[in-house]
Amino acid sequence: MSNSVSNKPDLDDSTNVNMDAAAAKRENHMFTEGAEPLSLWVILGSALVVLIAGGVLFGGNVFDYKNFVKKGYIRKAAPNASGGGAKPKLAIVAYKAIGKKVYDSCSTCHQPGGEGNTAFPPLADSEWVTGPSLRPAMIILQGLHKPIMVNGKRYEGVMPTMGDGMDAKKLAGVLNYIRNSFGNKADKLITVEMAEDALLVSKERGSGPVTAEELNEKYNRELKGAELAMDTPVDPKTLEPAAAE
Ligand code: HEC
Repeated sequence: MSNSVSNKPDLDDSTNVNMDAAAAKRENHMFTEGAEPLSLWVILGSALVVLIAGGVLFGGNVFDYKNFVKKGYIRKAAPNASGGGAKPKLAIVAYKAIGKKVYDSCSTCHQPGGEGNTAFPPLADSEWVTGPSLRPAMIILQGLHKPIMVNGKRYEGVMPTMGDGMDAKKLAGVLNYIRNSFGNKADKLITVEMAEDALLVSKERGSGPVTAEELNEKYNRELKGAELAMDTPVDPKTLEPAAAE
């Protein structure tokens, strides 16, 4: 048996003889270009890219869909989608809901029920609230000082400006709230567009409290803008009229 094997090539021998050289050769060529193991920095760098793209860093703003959309572009609702947003509400309800929150900053002085007290005039049943709408808008944006008669009673205090952070939506909201609460009933809705008129007038005048006299001389008018019926369905967040079904 062992003899018959001897004239065949010894596989073990031939591999053993060349093993060192072959191994060295293999090792030299083991990592051809592009296939090297990744360095730690490459791995960390990639992780960073993924985190940014995923919006984990930068609060998700970097790849916000809005950044890629032309300004003024209005996305159309998908067919049969009911606007995709919140359910429409009646304009007066939606505006007052926003205004009620703003009124929290007024109620410490004018009281939650708008009845006022000896130091602070009432908003209930006040001509300054339900009369020409630029006047209460200017009081809120500028602040008010010097004597003012409210319901036959004289007040002479100082109201600070409430205009900080007051955008048109909040201003329209709080105006509709005070004009349609505490037993008050205004006949018109103050729209966001009308509130923008007030913001413009206030900006042109410059900061500093107004007086009752100044309000009557210069700002005794209604806010300008297209009228909107109080029962128009609007989006409760944007206050935009909801599209007809
Ligand atoms: C720090 C107390 C204070 C806060 C807060 C305040 N007011 Fe006044 N408000 C006054 C005072 C005082 C007067 C009267 C000023 C004067 O005598 O000239 C006044 C007057 C008014 C008037 C005119 C008089 C009347 O009673 O109708 C209106 C309208 C009014 N405030 C609305 C608001 C609204 C709306 C807010 C919240 C956005 C607000 N005020 C927040 C103190 C305040």
